[in-house]
Amino acid sequence: MNGSTCSYMRAHPLAAADVDPQGKNQMFPLNDRRKRAGYDREHVGRQQNSVSRRGPRSTLRDMTELAVTFQQPAVAEAYQHRPPYPDEVFDRLLELIVDEPRRVLDIGAGEGALARPLAPRVEHVDAIDFSEPMVAAGKRRPGGDHPNLSWQVNPIEAADLDGPYALVTAGASIHWMPWEETFARIVPHLTPNAQLVVIEHGPVDMPWWDGVVQAIKKHSRKKNHDTNYNVVDAIRDRGLLDPTGTARTAPVTYHQKIADYVEQFHSTSSLARDLMTPEEAADFDTIVEEAVRPYAHDGLLELTIQAELSWGRPLAA
Ligand SMILES: C[S@@+](CC[C@H](N)C(=O)[O-])C[C@H]1O[C@@H](n2cnc3c(N)ncnc32)[C@H](O)[C@@H]1O
Repeated sequence: MNGSTCSYMRAHPLAAADVDPQGKNQMFPLNDRRKRAGYDREHVGRQQNSVSRRGPRSTLRDMTELAVTFQQPAVAEAYQHRPPYPDEVFDRLLELIVDEPRRVLDIGAGEGALARPLAPRVEHVDAIDFSEPMVAAGKRRPGGDHPNLSWQVNPIEAADLDGPYALVTAGASIHWMPWEETFARIVPHLTPNAQLVVIEHGPVDMPWWDGVVQAIKKHSRKKNHDTNYNVVDAIRDRGLLDPTGTARTAPVTYHQKIADYVEQFHSTSSLARDLMTPEEAADFDTIVEEAVRPYAHDGLLELTIQAELSWGRPLAA
């Protein structure tokens, strides 16, 4: 951990685990970038939210409009195939809760990849997402009906909040949101020491990545990915966050069927099935499957998953 925004967030535009259509993935900007291949789930080719240090990239409107992709039932269905967050993420989150009550607000909760495992470990989690299909999927998934967990289908900027919250979590979601309105909504509902944590995760060190990039370049609806964008820096530069720390989890191994690995790409905004013809989707799947099959054992791929957390004190404009 350290006191500034981490290199991962800086190099990774929109949240971890995403596809870099340029083929020079920098999810983990370590010495050997070629070996550290991740994928930009949300922005396989789209422009980014807001303004980076290097200048305007796109408008916030672009992003908030793109976020409606998550309201497609097929995207919510494919989402179950994304790898889970490493357990260490939840240990880190619990360490960041210092106030009572131990209530958590999960913004852009999706189908609860963070909210569901967190709920039994805290007093309560309010999981907010404006996608009805994502919330419906979350309710059906393990832990989705835990008594400590409340779901709400609403844009975060207009949500009914029931704080005070000792922690706010944003897993691969904050880049989709209108920041001024979002922070204005949540800041009055925080405990004195509450932190907002931006969390990203995904696979690293994929030897098949160059082959996957071919499929992404061919079919992604995003063509101008900026690997130097850092969402946490951008929020800080808007005067909405006082960053206080970062952490990267230890790598964990995750085994996944080839078909599920291929399918999870369709849970991204730029590779959603509804954005493609059936022929395009089939072609994408074939290219990816052929790239990964040589590395599978008994039909399973071995993925190495890491997460990065970046947190700070949220401020209202
Ligand atoms: C990539 S998913 C992340 C889901 C979950 N946090 C996770 O880590 O798996 C992003 C989610 O943010 C939601 N979202 C985007 N903009 C939103 C907004 N303004 N208010 C509420 N939810 C939003 C989308 O519907 C989507 O479910």
